[in-house]
Amino acid sequence: MSLRPARPVLTRHSLEGDVLRLWGRDDVLEVSAPLEGVLRLRHAPGARHSTLGFPALPEKRSFAVTHEGHLPLDVTSSEEGWRVSAGGLRLDVDAASGLWSVTDAGGHELARATGLTSDLASELRRSTLSLDAPAGAAYLGFGEKVGPLDKRGMRFTFWNTDHFPHHTDSDPLYASFPLCTVIHEGRAAGLFLDETWRSEVDVANLDDRTLTWRSAGPTMDLYVTAGPSPVTVLERYTALTGRHPMPPLWALGYAQSRWGYENETDVRAVVDGYRSRGIPLDAVYVDVDYLDGYRVFTWDRDRYPDPRGLLSEMLARGVRLVPIVDPGVKADPGYDVYDSGLAGDHFVKTWRGETFVGEVWPKPAVFPDFTRDEVVAWWALHFERWASVGVHGVWNDMNEPSCFDFPGRTSGFESVNASAAKVEGKTLPYDARHGTRRHIEVHNAYALGMNEAARVALSRAHPGRRPFMISRAGYAGLQRYSGMWSGDNSSEWSHLALSLPMLMGMGLSGMALVGADVGGFNGDTTGELLVRWTQTGAFYPVMRNHAVLGSRSQEPWRFGEEVEAAVREAVELRYRLLPTLYSLMREATLTGLPPLRPLALHHADDADAVREDGAFLFGPDMLVAPVLRQGARRRVTYLPAGRWAEVFNLSAGAAVHAGAA
Ligand code: GLC
Repeated sequence: MSLRPARPVLTRHSLEGDVLRLWGRDDVLEVSAPLEGVLRLRHAPGARHSTLGFPALPEKRSFAVTHEGHLPLDVTSSEEGWRVSAGGLRLDVDAASGLWSVTDAGGHELARATGLTSDLASELRRSTLSLDAPAGAAYLGFGEKVGPLDKRGMRFTFWNTDHFPHHTDSDPLYASFPLCTVIHEGRAAGLFLDETWRSEVDVANLDDRTLTWRSAGPTMDLYVTAGPSPVTVLERYTALTGRHPMPPLWALGYAQSRWGYENETDVRAVVDGYRSRGIPLDAVYVDVDYLDGYRVFTWDRDRYPDPRGLLSEMLARGVRLVPIVDPGVKADPGYDVYDSGLAGDHFVKTWRGETFVGEVWPKPAVFPDFTRDEVVAWWALHFERWASVGVHGVWNDMNEPSCFDFPGRTSGFESVNASAAKVEGKTLPYDARHGTRRHIEVHNAYALGMNEAARVALSRAHPGRRPFMISRAGYAGLQRYSGMWSGDNSSEWSHLALSLPMLMGMGLSGMALVGADVGGFNGDTTGELLVRWTQTGAFYPVMRNHAVLGSRSQEPWRFGEEVEAAVREAVELRYRLLPTLYSLMREATLTGLPPLRPLALHHADDADAVREDGAFLFGPDMLVAPVLRQGARRRVTYLPAGRWAEVFNLSAGAAVHAGAA
């Protein structure tokens, strides 16, 4: 029995400019080569059903890809199908099945489609694309995800979610990076599904030879990137989606934060605490307590009577304040951000066309529609005015967006079956509206416009100064605007260990400027955990000690002299590394390579190094193997090929260890 479809899936082609379109009765496949070593395959399975009888591709504005232009395509067609050569790659498309394979100049297969279907009846899994997952291939990346570095055997959802607190098996988390680096027999290739719609990936879990993407949207926009080195894959991905701008030096220093420093007296006490003990400090993050009734772009004047004065006093002491910014706007007539947003029609709507009202820290709250350029411009204006008193850096939080409740919300994930109030996690319903688009289509991209506005505003408020920002939520391309922290982790050893593969996965996804809350956010840390976390965090590109409201105080001197001394030593190490980190960040702006790197990036031909997630590289050749277990005084670590000397014992005659042969 033949499994081939009775009629070929693709029957015709047209070549317009450098874009090839293949058509069939139901399907469209659009092919282009944006860059050397990159092919874009935009599939529309079942396109006829969504475009009134004629298969066509919907208009697309990518939130991630900024690169423009295409390389020329060389197209030949035969009865079997089409062969396309471009940018050093070859694509073979089988007309009968509509499936394809991509090979490089040496004949190595980079990706092969094994299934493409559309299911109009499914709200969450409308389009499905399956790819061959060769035995032994490792799948690294996918941004901010739990689990080991190699995600083979796991399944993930891309739906930005405020997960308080998250656990070591929580999914989805705050950000969506639907991309990975595949390493097979020492060679790397990249896969990037540029869909902001709610999507899922099964990485050879249900079927150990298949990687399956599923999206709620009508298209599957896949970029296949050649290596052969993972370094090249990352360079190419960031050539498509952009690279970090250079952060200011101070932002790479050490910072203290806490949800619950109540007023300027608390902030001064923290700075005094550090300065009097001689522990270096560059920034204090200021949490929601500074706001006047949780109104964004305000200061509570009882707690902070003179923000401008405080900011300049701190600057004179070498400390920047980094206030939090949340997107939820208090729905409060008379409050200028609300009034002007309403007048300008800048807020997300319900499916009925009314302003959507929910609640987050401010109650009630409305949500700027950051998917529209005019809203980004409006937010930037308010932001600039507020930042001009001396704010040089911010953390953009709750921008999944987080929405705790709204009228008609049915609680929990079961509500996926309810009607217009269908919602998944603490956010806006699938059917909220962004112009003509549904929330389920653009939810994952929500944070991008908020971060873009912040960057524009900080640059305008302080010409000639580099802005600093970290964001909790994001989508592919966020690195153009902002760094990230990994959200609400916990003060547990397992979370210290989790931070390594998570930050490495983010680094492989274009996010170079990343960190996890040092000491752990949720719960009470211990002195020993704080010491080990600070020693590890000395190598995080963003190094911030942060703790939740009501938890044990987490400043280094709260745990006795021994802990204080060990933390001081780790922070001093950070400052000795600062020139290296600054140079590595500069490299990230040029190549996309992150400072904190998986061994896999430079040792792709070593199967053990490729899966190492208890150690990492700081730059190309410094290997860091932090102690990650309570009570441990030493640990073993794997050394890949090379000659390795101990950093803390670089004297003449010191031992040099040979790495793997
Ligand atoms: C969120 C943030 C956390 C912050 C808190 C209060 O949970 O992730 O870092 O402290 O909100 O603003």
